Amino acid sequence: MKMIKNTLFTKTPVSIGPQSGYDNYIMAIESSCDETACSIVKNGREVISNVVASQIKTHEKYGGVIPEIAAREHLESINVVIDQAFKQAGMTPEQITAFAGTVGPGLVGCLLVGLNAAKTLALVHDKPFIGVNHLNAHLCANYIDTDLKPPYIALLVSGGHTQIIDVKSYSEQEIIGETIDDAVGEAYDKVARLIGLPYPGGPILDKLAKEGNPHAFKLPEAKVEGYNFSFSGLKTAVLRLVKSFEGKELPVNDICASFQECVSSTLFKKVKKALEQSGYKQVVIAGGVAANSEIRRKIFSLENEGYSVNAPAMKYCTDNAAMVASCAYFNTNTFDDVDVEVFSRA
Ligand code: KG4
Ligand code: ZN
Repeated sequence: MKMIKNTLFTKTPVSIGPQSGYDNYIMAIESSCDETACSIVKNGREVISNVVASQIKTHEKYGGVIPEIAAREHLESINVVIDQAFKQAGMTPEQITAFAGTVGPGLVGCLLVGLNAAKTLALVHDKPFIGVNHLNAHLCANYIDTDLKPPYIALLVSGGHTQIIDVKSYSEQEIIGETIDDAVGEAYDKVARLIGLPYPGGPILDKLAKEGNPHAFKLPEAKVEGYNFSFSGLKTAVLRLVKSFEGKELPVNDICASFQECVSSTLFKKVKKALEQSGYKQVVIAGGVAANSEIRRKIFSLENEGYSVNAPAMKYCTDNAAMVASCAYFNTNTFDDVDVEVFSRA
């Protein structure tokens, strides 16, 4: 439980979290990249409303997210998503226990829009403000609609991050491994671009991989120490493979399947090793790439070995605000200061 007294007029601190002794309704805002999202979550696990305005259509034509354009679109959508989140829940600001917003990591201009909206709501309605780390929020997506409790091993795979985390308690996490170059999502998007697929390439590559032979091409698995990863060599290998087909028809599905096999088996091996060393019996996956069918299949196969496996519902894997609200509730390691500044890197 945390006691927050950053409200404007109220002198007594407000208690937030599982031990607060009453129902917490947290409204959160997420705007770190190309989704403007607002959600109200009861006691960290029950989603009362969840609104996401995606900008994928806008950025598709550029083949990636353009920060300036993304920030402008957040400005246009922010009031609409907040309004819809209240309407969907049938709630008023007075009924909200605290307002939360993503502080970072993310695109600074984008973060500013959502964070300032969350701070303003808190100040105007005299409620506590809670600033949340986006990566912690991705992990907390696993608490939605479940009764998951730490400790567990988490595989966090998103557009910007690839980490294996030892989650010791709701607030105590140790990153035991991470990528030394490209993130998994970044590798998916880059390889997708190499073979001519539109942005964001991850979901399309995943779909095409199902039609291909995962053993058609032997792609190199990087040998990196401990729980760390490297995906840039794999990306170069795909580039060479694509070039070798110049003038011939590219076996797109087989390349997708072979790439997906290489990535998912690397992730699987390291997660399994982390589980064995930690002695934990629970594992979760989180982040946008946790929506990947083959990564999910491999990690869920650990159930056959006696592990309990959890992955968020698809809509809570990619960026959303419900996970931010859940993090504001469970994690005491938050930025509970209305003066907190946005940050771009973890
Ligand atoms: O977590 P997220 O929504 O945003 C970040 O915080 O980065 O993750 C977005 C990433 C993109 O790189 C996208 O291509 C990837 O997640 N992604 C996938 C799949 N769905 C989304 N990658 C592989 N397979 C998928 N099914
Ligand atoms: Zn994210």
